[in-house]
Amino acid sequence: MILTEDGSYTLYSKKYEQHFHSVKAGAVNESLSKHVIPALNFSKNDNLKELNILDICFGIGYNTFSTIDYILKNNIDTKVNFYSPEFDGELIKSLQNFEFPDEFNDIKYIIDEVSKNNFYEDEQFKIEIFIGDAREYIQTLNNIDVVYQDAFSSDVNKELWTKEYFSDIYNCTKDNCLMTTYSIATPIRLSMWESKFEIYEYRSGNTDRQTVCFKHKNNASLENIKYIDMVLKKERNTTAVSLKD
Ligand SMILES: C[S@@+](CC[C@H](N)C(=O)[O-])C[C@H]1O[C@@H](n2cnc3c(N)ncnc32)[C@H](O)[C@@H]1O
Repeated sequence: MILTEDGSYTLYSKKYEQHFHSVKAGAVNESLSKHVIPALNFSKNDNLKELNILDICFGIGYNTFSTIDYILKNNIDTKVNFYSPEFDGELIKSLQNFEFPDEFNDIKYIIDEVSKNNFYEDEQFKIEIFIGDAREYIQTLNNIDVVYQDAFSSDVNKELWTKEYFSDIYNCTKDNCLMTTYSIATPIRLSMWESKFEIYEYRSGNTDRQTVCFKHKNNASLENIKYIDMVLKKERNTTAVSLKD
């Protein structure tokens, strides 16, 4: 376990040789600023009463658990269904003993149930964890409103950043869907754009730049958002190429 700058713990993966979260940004902070807050602001604008969130991939579960914590603390009445693939079933089983930050104490019963059963459901939240390959799982989904694209980086986790992968993501999402990710790399943006997503840069307050994607240009209803003209980017950077399977 690694202590991050905001006081929350993350893990270091020996298999992927990467931290699960940015140690500098902090695990909870990163989850909130890069995924949860943009996604919930977006859904507020769209007035959705129920959200289907695809959390790629579950890992320690910060993105799912921070979303629930944020919704409960801010008295948001949206119903949320989480769908999340994860290779590492042993990691999920160990989460009941993970040292989560104190703010998650109120949802410890949810963490425990997910850890034991890979599933949780009450009137407001449903969490379904698929133990297996994300590439297979996304083929079975549809009607997704929000995608948290939070895999390890493409040099070690390439299968979750290719054009073919994003095409499958495109196909399982609703017309007004939003995808959030920490990556701002041009090859990644090209993979997303070539699978028909529109690319935007988002920055809130002091946080690092990040990418958010929509299926249509006019769906960009967030503040602090800048459209990225990928045709122009390609003209200016002729050597940049998308990632392929
Ligand atoms: C960066 S971590 C995710 C962090 C997570 N969002 C969190 O908040 O803890 C990436 C996770 O993806 C899982 N993973 C990588 N490739 C996968 C794949 N093809 N299918 C399913 N899980 C995968 C890894 O086991 C790891 O737990």
